[in-house]
Order: sequence, then C-alpha cells, then structure tokens
Amino acid sequence: MPIQHTIFGRPVRLRVPPRRFQLLFGIVIFITFSLILFGPPSSADIPTVEDVKESIKNPKLPKLPSVYNPFGQSAHQPPVQANSTSGDAKWFSDWKWRNPFSSSITLDENRAVLPPLNVRPPIYTFYDSGKKQDVDITEAENRLLLAWRRAWWAQGFKPQVLGRAEAQKNPLYESMQRLDLDPKFEVEMVRWLAWGHMGTGILANWLALPMATYDNSLLTYLRRGEYPKLTRIESLQNGIFFGEKQAINDAIKKALETPLFHNKTENVDKLEALGKKDGGVMVNLLDKETLDIDTKGDGVAYYDSNSIVSKYKVVAEKLTNTTQAEGLSLLAILINSHLHMTWQNSFPDGIAILKPLPEHTTALTFEAIDIARNLTQCPTSPIPASCPPNRPKCKPCVSSHPLNIQLLPHFRNTSTLYTIGTVPHPYTFTTLRLQKDEITASFLRRTAERDMWLFAATEELLGAASAGETRVVRFKEAVASPHTSSHSLWLTAERESQVDLDWIYGFHLPQEAADDGKSETPVPGPERRPPPPPPLEGVLKPDDKELVTEKKRLETARAMIKSTDKGRIRIVDMVEKWNLADTEAWRFARAWSARRRVERRKWEEEESKFAGAEAKAGQGGGRWSD
Ligand SMILES: *[C@@H]1O[C@H](CO)[C@@H](O)[C@H](O)[C@H]1NC(C)=O
Ligand SMILES: *[C@@H]1O[C@H](CO)[C@@H](O)[C@H](O)[C@H]1NC(C)=O
Ligand SMILES: *[C@@H]1O[C@H](CO)[C@@H](O)[C@H](O)[C@H]1NC(C)=O
Ligand SMILES: *[C@@H]1O[C@H](CO)[C@@H](O)[C@H](O)[C@H]1NC(C)=O
Ligand SMILES: *[C@@H]1O[C@H](CO)[C@@H](O)[C@H](O)[C@H]1NC(C)=O
Repeated sequence: MPIQHTIFGRPVRLRVPPRRFQLLFGIVIFITFSLILFGPPSSADIPTVEDVKESIKNPKLPKLPSVYNPFGQSAHQPPVQANSTSGDAKWFSDWKWRNPFSSSITLDENRAVLPPLNVRPPIYTFYDSGKKQDVDITEAENRLLLAWRRAWWAQGFKPQVLGRAEAQKNPLYESMQRLDLDPKFEVEMVRWLAWGHMGTGILANWLALPMATYDNSLLTYLRRGEYPKLTRIESLQNGIFFGEKQAINDAIKKALETPLFHNKTENVDKLEALGKKDGGVMVNLLDKETLDIDTKGDGVAYYDSNSIVSKYKVVAEKLTNTTQAEGLSLLAILINSHLHMTWQNSFPDGIAILKPLPEHTTALTFEAIDIARNLTQCPTSPIPASCPPNRPKCKPCVSSHPLNIQLLPHFRNTSTLYTIGTVPHPYTFTTLRLQKDEITASFLRRTAERDMWLFAATEELLGAASAGETRVVRFKEAVASPHTSSHSLWLTAERESQVDLDWIYGFHLPQEAADDGKSETPVPGPERRPPPPPPLEGVLKPDDKELVTEKKRLETARAMIKSTDKGRIRIVDMVEKWNLADTEAWRFARAWSARRRVERRKWEEEESKFAGAEAKAGQGGGRWSD
C-alpha cells in the first residue's frame, strides 16, 4: 500500500510535476543559489565606502570584482599578445571588446580589451630610386612619397614603396629583359612586374592620393581588400589599378607576348602612339577582358602632368629642367594643402572640444584646443584657392572664415562634426573638478559622485538614467567603431604630447602661424591661426590665477598616477575603484591610442630602408619616446 503523505492532517497527493516545470524549477533554484552564494551580478559588486576605507588601511588590495563572471569560475588569463604593451598601457585585441569591463576577459586590471586591428589592404607604388639625379630632387621626391604613404595610411591602407628589386624577383622579369625594350616602356613593365611579385593589392602612382571622406565608396571598396577582377579607374588613367596576383601576372604575360614588342624596328611608331593614348602603353595593350575599366573614381586625386599643367600653372612652371626640385617641393605643399582642405570640407560643422562638467576643468582641454586650432587653420598653399583634381567644386579655406571650433559639454554623434575628447583619469578629474589637492576616502564618500566624467559626457546620448556599464560600452563604440572613429580623436589628459597626428589625419598639420594673417603668395608662408573657442555659456570663465592652479593640479595628478610609491598607488587605486566606469573609459582610450602608435612604429621600422620613409624624407629620428 502506498504511503499517504499528509500536511496538517490533510492528505496530500505527491505527483511529479510535468517536465517543463522541472526544468523551470531547476533554473530558478540554480539562480537563487547563485545569487545567495555570489551576490547579484550588478553594480552591487562595485566596492562600498567601507571597502574603500578598508583598502586604505590595508595595503593588500582586494581584487577587482569580476562583475561579469557571477559564478566565479576560475579561468586562465589569456596569453599576452605580441606587441601589446607601450609604456603603462596594455591591451588585448579581441572580438569581445564590447564587454563593459575588460578585466572580466583579461583578468588583468590594467589590460584593456580592444577590437581586433583592422586588416590594412596593401597599396603599392613604384619608385625607381636608381636613376641618376640631384640630391635635392631625390629629397623632394622622398617628401612626396612620404605624403603618399601618410595619406593612404590614414585611410586604413598599408602603403609600400616598391622598386626594381621587387620586379627582379618576378619570374617574368627575364622574359621582359630578353625583349630589350625602349626605356620608356621598360619602366612601365617593371612597375607591373614589381606589383606582380608582391601580389594581390592596389598599385598606385605616387601622385595618386586619397582625397575624400573615410566612407567614400571607392575607398570603402578598396579597403575591403577583395578584387575579383583586375581593374583600373577610367578617369584616373594609370593612377590606380587593383587585382589579384594571378590576374596581374596573366596581364603581364599577355603584354609581353604582344607582337608589337617582338619586332621593334617595325613597330616603334605604333608603340609611340599607344604610349600617348590615355593610360599609357601597358593599359592600351590589354583588352577589357584582361583589364576591366571602372568609372567611379572620385575618391582619389591624381596629380598627373596633364592636371598639373592645366590646373596648377605656378607649380608646372617650376617643374622644368633647372628648378625641378623647387617644383616638386611646391607640389608637395600643394598636395598637403589639398589633403588638409579635403579633411576640413568633410566636417562642415567644425570641431567640437568635449568639455563635460566644464567648471574648473579648463586645463584638460588645452591640448585639444591646440590641435583644433591647427586643424582649422588654413593650409599654406602656393595656389590658395585651388581644388584637388578629383573635386573641382571644393570649398577652399578662407582664413577670415575658418571652420568653427566650439566647446561641447556632451559628446554628440554627428558625422559632420569632428570631436576631440580628452579622457581624464578619475584621479585627475576628481582633483580638478572638486578643487581638492589631496583626496581621501572620506572626501570621496562625502563629496564625489561616481563616474562623473562619463555620466556627463554621455548624458545627451543616453539620458540621465543609464547605468555606467551602458555608458562605457557606448563610449568604447565612439572611440573604436569604424563609423565614429573616423570623426573623433580621443586623447588622455595625462599624455602631454601627440606624435602621430600627421598619420591619423594623413597630412602635415600646420606648425606655425602668421601673426597678422596676411600671407602673400607666390612664396607660401604660414596662415593666420584661428582663435580658441568661446567659453560655454553660463559657465564662469576661470581667471589666470585659477588656470595656474588647474595646471598645477593636472601636473600633480600626472605624477601621482605614474608614481610607484605604495601610498600613492593605494590612493589612486581607491579612486579607480570608486569610479569603475571612468577608469575603464580612460584605460580604453589610453590603450587605443597606444596600440595605434605601436602599429605605426612597427610599420615605420619595417619600411625604414625604403624610399619615402620618414628618415629618408628628413623627418623622424628619436620621435618615438613615450
Ligand atoms: C613586436 O613583437 C615582436 C615579436 O614578439 C618583437 O620581435 C618586436 O621587437 C616587437 N616590436 C616592438 C616595436 O615592440
Ligand atoms: C621585323 O620587321 C622587318 C620589316 O618588316 C623585317 O625585315 C624583319 O625581318 C623583322 N624582324 C623580325 C625579328 O621578325
Ligand atoms: C632639359 O631641357 C632641354 C632643352 O630644353 C631638353 O632637351 C631636355 O630634354 C630637358 N631634360 C629633361 C630631363 O627634361
Ligand atoms: C553614432 O551614430 C551612428 C549612426 O547614426 C550609429 O550607428 C552609431 O552606433 C552611433 N555611435 C554612438 C557611439 O552612439
Ligand atoms: C600647433 O601649432 C602651433 C603653432 O602655431 C605649434 O606650436 C604646435 O606645436 C602645433 N600643435 C600641434 C599638435 O600640431
């Protein structure tokens, strides 16, 4: 007989619940237990004032709570990636970068998770450095090559300058030599052979530079790195080709097999005629089957001799026999001005200097304002009102009406507005904003709100109610996602100098300014520097005395954060734990720009032997100190 269960004397029928309820109960019980054992996975894990006080008394600091690992499983730290450290900044490149807190992935408080580096498709140019010519001319050419490398690098490509050495490695080089070509055609073939040796990618003339917004359709297509057909752009003549290794070498073979090359005496006139046609010999030897022709090409400016002669007379006149070096230098200045102007034209709303909680934080914006003023300054140019060859309807810079610079208390996500943000370490921000030279636990508890900077910076974007986690993720997107990263620059308040701006923007920023604003051509001189932005309305303008105090606090904070003194480390750590989201934002921004610097530095080292390297163009050397 079955046992009769009773509760309070009443019989109870015990029945196993249906399966779906079993599962549900299981989950509920599991979660309840997890919560009891490990606490809720929320901001409750952010240390309380008591924790913070404790941490001051106790030199051994508690580990940062693993907020996003509620079940507390121990995990191995992911292996440290190569070249993922620069100074104090450390990072880990991973698809999980949108996690609010990096330490839940890296298990290292100091290592920020960044998105994987974008793959830069290679773009090649051919430069025959062997020819005999003046040192001045070679130097001027190297400056142009540097400008070419910088512009393509800034647009997300991997620019490489090739020479005869690469061509000689191509197995087809010998078959070309046997033909004993006329030097004019030979150079064209060698250029292709060098490309064929390197393989899939883009071949550009070094006077073909990208001049368009980052999301220009041609540049976006080229950045994808997949070129199913060997193609050239009609309007750019022989300025740009792209294709895959096999297709490139097939095209070379076809060209070498042409009967025109095999009896030169007979065909010399025909070859001359082909060479005079648009695009030159190589292009005209190939049929459309082998070399496709595309029509959209407004993203690239090609300074071929026709355009120079027809559009830039001042430069063309100098590019003659005796003043060629001078002509090339003028051309370099002209190209730089066009690159700069193209950048200015992409942001008609001007530049916003982010200044959240603007009282007492003016010193944090000095560096950003300095950069913004240089960016909005009119570029020096031998022909100030000229437009690049690909954008005849550009809007030249007029120094009486420079691009607008404004202070903004909140980050605004607009593609026509360029944002320069300065991310302060929470220690820096606390001492400046709250005007306090020494920060203690009780001061934090009584006076400081958590994550002040990030809340203010994202208030317009996310309202007043969102949690710190949401804000951090949005902030990371603003810094690192391709859409917004091309219209913003993020500095950290603790880094005093910026070495890489030319490579971020793709042109050389003006470094000097005229004091009166009248610069007379033909000898280009510096333009007038635009004034700093007006103060925010309703915000008290700091007097000189307060500015001095702010600067001093900023300097003290920089030293404090770098300090290896145990007591100071403890205080900085306490402030970091009080401001988890602000700290994460700061680490992310710091790692983001550090990785960018390292990527560039490695690249420059690899290319240092080749034409167009900074060292060869009379730049660089010792600029890399962190
Ligand atoms: C990058 O890493 C490689 C291999 O780990 C090393 O040889 C190289 O020196 C590093 N470069 C820099 C710039 O740190
Ligand atoms: C090239 O053409 C000329 C004139 O037609 C002819 O005399 C000569 O034999 C040809 N040479 C070769 C190598 O075919
Ligand atoms: C230099 O000028 C002379 C005469 O004007 C011309 O014959 C020669 O081809 C020129 N040289 C170059 C390299 O352009
Ligand atoms: C900015 O706006 C674009 C589209 O308007 C959106 O895709 C992107 O996520 C926004 N970025 C941020 C950080 O809000
Ligand atoms: C901006 O230009 C000034 C001179 O006008 C120069 O001293 C400063 O170094 C420049 N800053 C940057 C970041 O280019």
